[in-house]
Amino acid sequence: MFQDKQIVLGVSGGIAAYKAVDLASHLRQLGADVHCIMTDHAARLVSPVTFGEITGHEVAQAMFDHITRWDVGHISLARMADLFVIAPATADIIGKIASGIADDMLSTTVMATKAPVLVVPSMNTQMYENPFVQENMEKLRRAGYTVMEPDAGHLACNTEGKGRFPKTEDILEEAEKILTGRRLLKGKKILVSAGGTREKIDPVRYIGNRSSGRMGYAIARAAYMEDAEVVLVSCTRDLPEPRGVTVVYAEDARGLDAEMNRLYDGADGVIMAAAVSDYRPSVSSDRKIKKEDHSSLDIRLELNPDILRGLGARKSHQFLVGFAAETNDVIAHGKEKLERKNLDMLIANDVSQPGAGFNVSTNIASILYRGGKMEQFPIMSKDELGRIIAERVAEGIKKGSC
Ligand code: CTP
Repeated sequence: MFQDKQIVLGVSGGIAAYKAVDLASHLRQLGADVHCIMTDHAARLVSPVTFGEITGHEVAQAMFDHITRWDVGHISLARMADLFVIAPATADIIGKIASGIADDMLSTTVMATKAPVLVVPSMNTQMYENPFVQENMEKLRRAGYTVMEPDAGHLACNTEGKGRFPKTEDILEEAEKILTGRRLLKGKKILVSAGGTREKIDPVRYIGNRSSGRMGYAIARAAYMEDAEVVLVSCTRDLPEPRGVTVVYAEDARGLDAEMNRLYDGADGVIMAAAVSDYRPSVSSDRKIKKEDHSSLDIRLELNPDILRGLGARKSHQFLVGFAAETNDVIAHGKEKLERKNLDMLIANDVSQPGAGFNVSTNIASILYRGGKMEQFPIMSKDELGRIIAERVAEGIKKGSC
């Protein structure tokens, strides 16, 4: 994504300027050509030599230094940028941009660029919460700039609160989202389920399955990267929450059923990637079952609700997607499930194949559509398949709303 991209990195005078060195380094390692502009205050916190060494380009700082070497420095940088990142962005630079003030190299260049701008605020909590700073950030957002939320935690002024410079990987993800630039799901609400349900036997035991949740998490992340508003109903707590995605947790099939139905009406696209246990113990014990009390144990199971079928039965405007995990006659079973559950799209995979299905980072999928169309894909990472699914869901929603 970053290969051969021209990235202008504006560094303003916050203490987190030293963390921007790591950002510059990662961008370069990912193949980007990074040009740095520093404000005078930033250059007092971190030497421009550091950024120069890391990026392989001389750092732009004073307005008039470079005119002899570049065709008017700020205009040339403004034009060459595929993406303009200001990190850290202080209250001062945010205020200047919002007010149209251009009195140094960074503010003039950002004013002159047509490239997308990613602003990464980082400052003391009180400054961040100051109503003028908040208003200025809102102005920037309205003008089409992407303004990231800072992290909360320990701050350089020895306090705790919101204002920390985000992790490099989060900034890179946001930059990737902007550079991808497709925004196929902008304004759409996507509901995804993930992971395997756990049906309680007693407080320490459950009936579960081998699903890791990775496929559902990859779809949620891909939908977010396409600018959707995403809610992920997760039956696992083992994976890190994808940034920008609202995560709610469910334990068993009935809990998942309740959450999916609660969120269903407001969703444009629904992807049921969770592996739902078809059965649950008829009785579960509130106390640990002791082996001294039982020489043998029968656990009677009863059927769980078929959540997807229920959603299909009351479908209105939603583009509804299911999965089929099969070990034989994959396509035939997939087609039958698509019909029976009233789906618009179904991802079928043969979980008996190496590299497909549960607990691996790859998948081998066929996508079946209502109306008989089918696509077959080779083995690929779950992230890659997640992107394809998000793309197809966007197409499906678009067709449905035409
Ligand atoms: N599903 C569901 N509720 C269930 C069982 C499955 O919502 N009680 C959903 C899954 O999330 C998946 C799809 O239905 O999207 C198909 O799941 P799968 O386990 O392949 O099929 P089943 O309907 O359970 O049928 P069978 O196990 O008999 O193949």
